[in-house]
Amino acid sequence: MFDDRKMSKGCSAPGCRSILTVAVVVSLSLFFFFWTLPLTYCPPQLPQFNQLSDGQHEEKNNSIAEETVEKPVLLLWVWPENYRFDLSDCKTIYNIDGCHLTDDRALYSSSDAVLVFHKAIRWDLSTLPPSPRPSFQKWIWLNVESPTNTQKIPGIENLFNLTLSYREDADIPVRLRLTGNKTPNEDFKIPKKDKLVCWIVSNNAAHTGVGRRNAYYNELKKHVNIHLFGKAYGTFLDYKDYYPTIASCKFYLSFENSIHKDYITEKFNGPLSAGTVPVVLGPPRKNYERFAPGDAFIHVDDFPDAKSLAEYLMQLDRDEDAYRRYFNWRRHFSARPHLIVQNQEFVLAICTACDHVARHKEYQEAHDIYEWFFN
Ligand SMILES: *[C@@H]1O[C@H](CO)[C@@H](O)[C@H](O)[C@H]1NC(C)=O
Ligand SMILES: *[C@@H]1O[C@H](CO)[C@@H](O)[C@H](O)[C@H]1NC(C)=O
Repeated sequence: MFDDRKMSKGCSAPGCRSILTVAVVVSLSLFFFFWTLPLTYCPPQLPQFNQLSDGQHEEKNNSIAEETVEKPVLLLWVWPENYRFDLSDCKTIYNIDGCHLTDDRALYSSSDAVLVFHKAIRWDLSTLPPSPRPSFQKWIWLNVESPTNTQKIPGIENLFNLTLSYREDADIPVRLRLTGNKTPNEDFKIPKKDKLVCWIVSNNAAHTGVGRRNAYYNELKKHVNIHLFGKAYGTFLDYKDYYPTIASCKFYLSFENSIHKDYITEKFNGPLSAGTVPVVLGPPRKNYERFAPGDAFIHVDDFPDAKSLAEYLMQLDRDEDAYRRYFNWRRHFSARPHLIVQNQEFVLAICTACDHVARHKEYQEAHDIYEWFFN
């Protein structure tokens, strides 16, 4: 018979001991089973953590970092007009650093994009990069001239992936834009003026389309005195004198050599950044107003003829308040000076391309580029 007291007091009988042993073994093995369960279900995670915490750590880290910051290679096939500049200018001048910009043709087969300068393409196409090109590579049509000054070399209409131009509807539009001021700028003072109307003319070759601007100038100069500077008029202006000269004039003739949509060049940016009122001749006023406030400039089309424009300029010369109103925009927007040294003519275009390829990896083709550009 069972001794209730003994049972409740402890477990000392041999039968009781063996039951206890079995219970301990069973619960221990259950414990180990469940403890090891997560390990058997997710084995791949642990070795990974282990690798990161052992001696290979540094190597692993570096190779991951390299993968994430690898920059696309942008190859400059030729230097436009042979104007060479320091390739690090993109970083130092525009803070553009997203691509590996190079002129080393040995990198052709690994280049993500190739810049092809339109003017340097020969009519037999022998100066193009070699075909077939790598399947991942994009060719960029680099042309910052207007249609009047662009040769229609046949055979390249469907070769490119991206167009680069001053045109706003190019794949890569190139232009210095005004920028907004977060806090209104109250510090601007109109520079000291000792001339009324100025014009710097470096190119006057008739074939570049300068006919209209010369006709207008010839009419305008009959009614108002115009100070001329520049190669075309025998008074070469030193680079360092460019901005001070423009700043010393109340008005500057921002006359484009040829008239095309969006063809609004540094001739407009010069006076805006120097503190002078541009008098523009180019595409319609509406086109200019895409890039600058309407009260920042005077358009020749605002007047029936050159004589009435001249009269208006002389009237503003006498009316300080009215003249000052042409600078109201400066409270809210800033213009930055463009590069003027000849060798830097293409820096902005090339750096803008670098910025673009760093941000866009998508597949793209540019078809019938002449259809787009000339019409
Ligand atoms: C890991 O990579 C980062 C980014 O490149 C670097 O700054 C850091 O020094 C690296 N650390 C080690 C331990 O290598
Ligand atoms: C670039 O354009 C060419 C010609 O249209 C096309 O054959 C090629 O596949 C394009 N490549 C990329 C990467 O977009």
